[in-house]
Amino acid sequence: MPAKTFYLETFGCQMNAHDSEKVVGTLMAKGYAQVPTPEEAGLVLYNTCSIRDKAEQKVFHRLQQFKRNGKDKAIGVLGCVAQQEGEHIFERAPHVGLVCGSASYNRLGELLVQIEAGGRRVTGLSLDTDEAFDTPFTRRDNPHRAYITISEGCDKSCAYCVVPFTRGPERSRTSDSVMAEARRLAEQGYSEIQLLGQNVNSYRDPTPAAWNFAILIEHVAQIPGIRRVRYTTSHPRDFGRDIVEAMDANPVLCDHIHLPVQSGSSKMLASMDRLYTRDEYMRRIEWIKTARRHYSITTDIIVGFPGEMEEDFEATLALLDEVEYDSLFSFQYSPRPNTAALRFEDQVPEEEKRRRLTIVQEKQRAIQIRRNAGLIGSVKEVLVEGRNQALAQWIGRTSDNRTLNFTHPDNGGASLVGQYLPVRVTRSGPNSLVGESVTVV
Ligand code: 5AD
Ligand code: SF4
Repeated sequence: MPAKTFYLETFGCQMNAHDSEKVVGTLMAKGYAQVPTPEEAGLVLYNTCSIRDKAEQKVFHRLQQFKRNGKDKAIGVLGCVAQQEGEHIFERAPHVGLVCGSASYNRLGELLVQIEAGGRRVTGLSLDTDEAFDTPFTRRDNPHRAYITISEGCDKSCAYCVVPFTRGPERSRTSDSVMAEARRLAEQGYSEIQLLGQNVNSYRDPTPAAWNFAILIEHVAQIPGIRRVRYTTSHPRDFGRDIVEAMDANPVLCDHIHLPVQSGSSKMLASMDRLYTRDEYMRRIEWIKTARRHYSITTDIIVGFPGEMEEDFEATLALLDEVEYDSLFSFQYSPRPNTAALRFEDQVPEEEKRRRLTIVQEKQRAIQIRRNAGLIGSVKEVLVEGRNQALAQWIGRTSDNRTLNFTHPDNGGASLVGQYLPVRVTRSGPNSLVGESVTVV
């Protein structure tokens, strides 16, 4: 067994998942081997999330487990909790040796050398960077779909959100390096690309070419071998009509737009500092719904933001009826350190937040049951992602980001994973579809 071993567990969003792929690649290039359990590892790393309090508590719970039996290990906290809590982590969990936020991953190699030399309380916490974490060593988890970071950090200041504090100011990668990475991935056989950023719509190429986001996706989608391009996440304020036009022009750009609204009440949107009104948001929905292609639309909702009255909540429910989202993520507002809303009055009681969340989720469930049932009989192309042995079904994903599990005639046990196949929808549920593969003659 190699002397240098590490274990890494990741929490949070796709940005974090992809950061972890880069961290793993960096460590392997330095001679470390990844092991599947913390017990086997000399170095234990947690790549953490602090978007809501619950996510943050998870990591402290993990660290607690090492208090007694982790004496022979180096323990590191990476990501958003690392950046947010900084050196306080050493106070709360004195056995932690490394605390490093995502804006300092470029220094990870150097920090590891310090840890190896017996360094204690090693930190990488500067947010003062104008670079993205660009590394040739990314170790990707999925052989067909690859993430590419196009920008890091966020320059918005939504009143509830920790991200500007944990990921620092927004910085875009050059279009040259994004395109080179996408071409390389296509050559390696990846067919789906997912472009990542906290606010991809405000992407601004720092080279003289000065591409905006619409131009960038147009070019990525033209790379030979790339069959699907997705992106996340959007901010309605920066979501221009040119993005819909670019998508309409090339079906490689998937039939799905995630456009987080957060609330259906213009009053709440103003106090959240979202920089758009309900009407302005609905104008974007209109562009999408009147586009040439049909797009599924999904969103994020926060209930119980400070000052949310019954009428504001009703406005969110009415918005759900009006837009009829294909899916949504909904959250109870969770007060976060450093954010403006922490100081707002009229905090909504926990119990009321819970009640509102349940109502949102029940309403949305009914919408999804209805919408998914409308797809029965249609044929959709899926990218096969896996196999559910127990159900004897293949797991597929449609361009519009639905899970479509399907049966396929016995082909002697060969794997279909990574293939694109037409599937006829035969049944539907609130969260997925079931179908059978269509034999093409
Ligand atoms: N409380 C609850 N939900 C939050 N989100 C971001 N910050 C908070 C918070 N403090 C939600 C938003 C965002 C999604 C990623 O997480 O809906 O779009
Ligand atoms: Fe969590 Fe946000 Fe950090 Fe992603 S950027 S890991 S969602 S806090």
